[in-house]
This record gives sequence, C-alpha cells and structure tokens, in this order.
Amino acid sequence: MRRKIVAGNWKMNLSLAEGYQLAESVKSETKVIKPAGTDIVLCTPFIHLKGVSDIVQDSGIATGAQNCSNEKSGAFTGEISASMIKSAGARWVIIGHSERRSLFAETDNLVLRKTSAAIESGLRVIFCCGEVLAERERNDHFRVVKRQLDEGLLGLQVSDFSKTVIAYEPVWAIGTGVTASPIQAQEMHGYIRSLVQEAYGTTVARETLILYGGSCKASNAAEIFSMPDVDGGLIGGASLNSAEFAGIIRAAEL
Ligand code: 13P
Repeated sequence: MRRKIVAGNWKMNLSLAEGYQLAESVKSETKVIKPAGTDIVLCTPFIHLKGVSDIVQDSGIATGAQNCSNEKSGAFTGEISASMIKSAGARWVIIGHSERRSLFAETDNLVLRKTSAAIESGLRVIFCCGEVLAERERNDHFRVVKRQLDEGLLGLQVSDFSKTVIAYEPVWAIGTGVTASPIQAQEMHGYIRSLVQEAYGTTVARETLILYGGSCKASNAAEIFSMPDVDGGLIGGASLNSAEFAGIIRAAEL
C-alpha cells in the first residue's frame, strides 16, 4: 500500500506573519488528526521557508519551496538555489508548475535541469505536469503529458527518479473551481503510471506517488483520492485555510 501525500502550495500569498499563523494552525489540526498513512508538506514562498520549517519541526510536517534555480551558485541575481532551500530546513521543491511553465517560460529542458539540480542537492521533487484546456479539447492531453514526462523526468537515473513524486495538474482545473472528475483523474494517473513502468519497471511504477492538483478541496478530495492511482493531492487555494486543508488530510486518511 502506497502512502499518500497532501502538499499545500501557498503560491505567492500571505505575509510572513500570516504564513506563520497558518503553519501553526496546520500543525494544531494535524496533531488532532494524527495522520497515519499521509505525509504532509507545506510549500511556502521562499521567505517563509525557514520560519515555517522551524514551526513544524518535529511535528511530522515537511516543508518545500515552489521553485529553484537550475544553477548551483554564482552571479544569478534574484535566484535561489536548491542547496539554499535545503539549508532553510526544507526537504521538497515543486518543479515545473504550470504557472512557471506558462508565465515564466520554463521549457521541458529547463524543468529537467532544475529537477536534476534539486535532487543533486538532496531535495525531493514534486514534478508537475498537465495539459491546458485547448489540448484536452483536441484530445491531445495524453500526448502533452507524455512529452512533459519524457523530456523533463523519465530520463533520470532510477536512483534519482525515486526522489520524485509526480503531480498531475490539468491547467483548466487550477484555480477555476472545476476539478477533473475522478474518472478523468484516474485515466491520466493510470496512464502516467504506465509510462513510469515502461521507463523503470513494475516495482518502481508501483511505488511511485502520483498526486492530483486542481481545485481540490475538502468536499471533493475523498472522491478523487479513492481512485486507485491517485496518491494524494497538491493543493493551492484550499491550502490557505487550515480547516479546509485539514479536511483534505482527513480525506486522504480514509
Ligand atoms: P488550486 O487548488 O487553487 O486549483 O491550485 C492547484 C495548484 O496549482 C497546486 O499547485
């Protein structure tokens, strides 16, 4: 039985004080839930990372960043390296989020280089993939996700690949209130697992966690997480409210 992950992606939200308050609340809620089969990750803005890591230390909650540089160090003004993220107490980083791909022109190749840099620094990666609405409407979604995985992830050595989890986030479901149906999610997650199997074999495919992201909330999480190839969620808006986020953790524990 695979464990589940519920990861919050706070995106570019919350002042430092608000972020610390939210981390405290999530920690309290988690103490009550005592999740046995679910790992919890808070992916915060960079400036919150050290403080939130300190707050959740020893609570079983891990922290992560939402992006990192593909470079190790040097004259890259404004960039943050994977080793800096690690030194702030984080264990995870989200790479290849659709907002990075579309708004910051991140290519599959850059995503691959960031993933490699993160793993080399000892971080685990939440690797995002997913199609836009027009691609789904012309029935191109499987091909798009396959390309993102082939070019950004599945070329890694198996020892590196095992440090990653995959998040399927259909772009048309992100922040729109429209979720993929459980059947649509399962169909893509099953396909992704088949691609992992082709690349790394049955055992690795069976152990790989594939998260769903896109308008996931407490009221719809249980239904989506009950699908056999859905191993938890990457949560945007609903992760900014601790009661809502706690409801999603409870759904993962069902
Ligand atoms: P929402 O949950 O707000 O749709 O965002 C999903 C997401 O992009 C998580 O990375």
